[in-house]
Amino acid sequence: RAQRCAGRVCHVLVLVLCLSAAEDFDWTKNDRGSFYYGTFPTGFSWGAGSSAYQTEGAWDKDGKGLSIWDVFSHKKGKVFLNDTGDYACEGYYKLKDDISLLKELNLNHYRFSISWPRVIPTGIRSDHVNEKGIKYYDTLIDQLLENKITPIVTLYHWDLPQVLQEKYGGWQNISMVNYFNDFASLCFERFGNRVKHWITFNNPWSVAVEGYETGEHAPGLKLRGTGAYRAAHHIIKAHAKVWHTYDNQWRNKQNGVVGISLSGDWGEPVDITNLKDIEAAERYVQFYLGWFATPVFHGDYPQVMKDFVGRKSAQQGLGTSRLPTFSSQEKSYIKGTCDFLGVGHFTTRYITQKTYPPGRGSTYFADRDLAELVDPRWPDPGSEWLYSVPWGFRRLLNFVKTQYGNPMIYITENGVSEKMKCTELCDDWRIQYYKDYINEMLKAIRDGVNVKGYTAWSLLDKFEWDEGFSERFGLYYVDFKNKNKPRYPKASVQFYKRIINFNGFPNLREVENWKRKATETCSSSNQLLAADPLTSHMEMVTEIVVPTVCTLCILISAVFLMFLLSRRN
Ligand code: NOJ
Repeated sequence: RAQRCAGRVCHVLVLVLCLSAAEDFDWTKNDRGSFYYGTFPTGFSWGAGSSAYQTEGAWDKDGKGLSIWDVFSHKKGKVFLNDTGDYACEGYYKLKDDISLLKELNLNHYRFSISWPRVIPTGIRSDHVNEKGIKYYDTLIDQLLENKITPIVTLYHWDLPQVLQEKYGGWQNISMVNYFNDFASLCFERFGNRVKHWITFNNPWSVAVEGYETGEHAPGLKLRGTGAYRAAHHIIKAHAKVWHTYDNQWRNKQNGVVGISLSGDWGEPVDITNLKDIEAAERYVQFYLGWFATPVFHGDYPQVMKDFVGRKSAQQGLGTSRLPTFSSQEKSYIKGTCDFLGVGHFTTRYITQKTYPPGRGSTYFADRDLAELVDPRWPDPGSEWLYSVPWGFRRLLNFVKTQYGNPMIYITENGVSEKMKCTELCDDWRIQYYKDYINEMLKAIRDGVNVKGYTAWSLLDKFEWDEGFSERFGLYYVDFKNKNKPRYPKASVQFYKRIINFNGFPNLREVENWKRKATETCSSSNQLLAADPLTSHMEMVTEIVVPTVCTLCILISAVFLMFLLSRRN
């Protein structure tokens, strides 16, 4: 039966694919496959991104406190090959080098995050502020500005101070709201004269679901069916509080903007003629991006989340919904706390309706009543979850436009990984990914979506959370085996640079030319990288092999000479 069922799903999938390939969408001017040549609005901001734990290293240096990721990654079996971010890219020590890479790319902005325990070791401001940590970010910000690169700063990219986890249970506890607000206030106070773009949280979906529901990420808790909702509830409140703090105390003086960065895959109905699939796909997006975006724009959770989690909770015999509720004061306090929306987007899924019977263990995933599918023809060069589906990007952006009143958007993450063990700088698949995704963003802008900037994810290869160093998202290759963590440009650097310099895509011939040139230069960079082990090889040749061979030659000649002499005598 399972086989027949799978066969039917495949059949529908193939059918739908055929149908939709031939179709144009109402709100589009170009169909899925076509490429749109044109430029981005003047002043469009191009950037690249990173985050503290993934790149900085120096995990226990200069007075930094422990984060939940320091502790989690040191536990055996939590991260692929038991890797840790102890050293990562040594970004803490390579500030100048990395700024020169940003310059090389001609970027307008750089997105990075501040490590909370680096500036407040216990997480509690009244305990102690670590001036050495403050100094590091001061220097980074100053150097960016000196180089005319705008800093876009994330306050929380997953590295909660461990003390707050141990003492209070981290984001399960409402007290995080005030601690986070104190940390944010410190950052506004010390850096806000120079930083004008603030992101409170990066991808809270991951924090909630992977940190407190499945336990794949730090702090590794498996509080199924409740943990994620609770964490998200406190994160949303913390975000709102920080936005109000900025609004009341700093906005007049500093004139910046405060937003949140949400990640969201697009969900496309498997069968676009089937209402159940259409509703399931809508639910997929509402349970993902909508979970956080709807409160900050409209003041409450998406109706469909309230309905589904509420009904399932009742079926379990619970008196109240597992999805917490906001009071009416809280709703009006939270509503409108977003000057811009950060969007992190990587991939798409096909979605079909699937009912999870009550009583078989309640989870966030079961609450959605849906199944995710992928088209086996979608390219998936790296991370298991990451299929390249450019058209999904345009749809997600249009969804944001219509659902939340066309807010100002910054793309805070978009990119693709590779999983190769060998040193591969000729990343033509990444060039293809960037080309197509950036093009879909351009189409979305033509649709009227208010996208102000784009951040390629990521500047460097780095610590990819529970996948360790096995998945490389960087424009620059990092040699993690080498103590100095040297960086090498991949071909995509050249390609991205050209998009930036042209502010878009001129015409087919030019763009093809860019691709060709980018892949040409990568072979010389490849040689550079290959030269690293080669240099040591050469050293061995000159220092050991040559003298040994010479000595041997002399010895052999001497023996031969003696032999000849003895024969003559
Ligand atoms: C989203 C996370 O914010 C980022 O840290 C990570 O590297 C990317 N996803 C890719 O997995």
